[in-house]
Amino acid sequence: MGTPIAYFRGRWMPLEEATVSIATHALNYGTGCFEGIRAYYNKASDRLFLFRVREHYERFHASCRILRIEVPHSVDELCQLTVELLRRNPMRQDVYVRPLAFKADPVIKVSLDGIADQFGLFAVPLGDYLPTQGIHVMVSPWRRIDDNAVPARAKITGSYINTAIAVSDAHAAGFDDCIFLNEDGHVSEGSAANLFMVRKGALVTPPVTDNLLEGITREVIFELARDQQIPVVERHIDRTELYVAEEVFLVGTGVQVVPVVSIDHRPVGEGQMGPITQSLQALYFATVRGENLRYQHWLTPVE
Ligand SMILES: Cc1ncc(COP(=O)(O)O)c(C=O)c1O
Repeated sequence: MGTPIAYFRGRWMPLEEATVSIATHALNYGTGCFEGIRAYYNKASDRLFLFRVREHYERFHASCRILRIEVPHSVDELCQLTVELLRRNPMRQDVYVRPLAFKADPVIKVSLDGIADQFGLFAVPLGDYLPTQGIHVMVSPWRRIDDNAVPARAKITGSYINTAIAVSDAHAAGFDDCIFLNEDGHVSEGSAANLFMVRKGALVTPPVTDNLLEGITREVIFELARDQQIPVVERHIDRTELYVAEEVFLVGTGVQVVPVVSIDHRPVGEGQMGPITQSLQALYFATVRGENLRYQHWLTPVE
């Protein structure tokens, strides 16, 4: 790979030149929105395929709407810019794309209005974010941010303090990651991933009103489960249900599909990846790599 190229201030430039002042509003107050999009390398056709890029940009627009950030491009334009980004950064490996829109003026003013916005886009190579064979997690003593304080539904830069603080404490305690409860004590999601458990053969996941990011992978799992005739239920999950679940797994663009093999030092099921997780994980990887013909419309080739 040559010099990484970013899109910033409406033009293409070397990534190292796409910088901001320390007085930037978003740097001081966390007032930005972002996305994380994966493109998978397909060896057979020697091409990258973006996965559900349109859905990511629809959510990006929704996040920016909540934070009153004006995005200078439509969803279609953002999809095209992302294809162009990957053409300008040729990579023969899996890639993570990061669009970012933020309050850019150098002002000391804690507000969202009257502040100019900026948009940037860059890409980095990215393999597995967490081990896909299984992770050990704890239930975090930190609570998930509440919709009436900092909405988890929007992918806001500043919100990731909640994740960073909880994950660092989980690492310090010897775990790979953590699970958040929300303020009413129900399971919300993983630190940067949505959560599913298997109980009595059905998939159960918290509803979008439980202070979670409305994940795109979560919806992919709904569809893949339907294909496998696995029932999916959206309902509150109690903490101790995690201890008696047959299987628990996390899903997200970054983590992909990761089995949780222990929670708070208690084995989940048999303490290894369960059969439903295994089958959905295999289906997921086949889908994102373009090997599942049924869902090729979710992929955008980078010609
Ligand atoms: C807090 C949080 N929840 C869930 C997810 C999963 O969302 P998606 O599947 O759209 O990547 C993410 C991002 O990956 C996240 O940061």
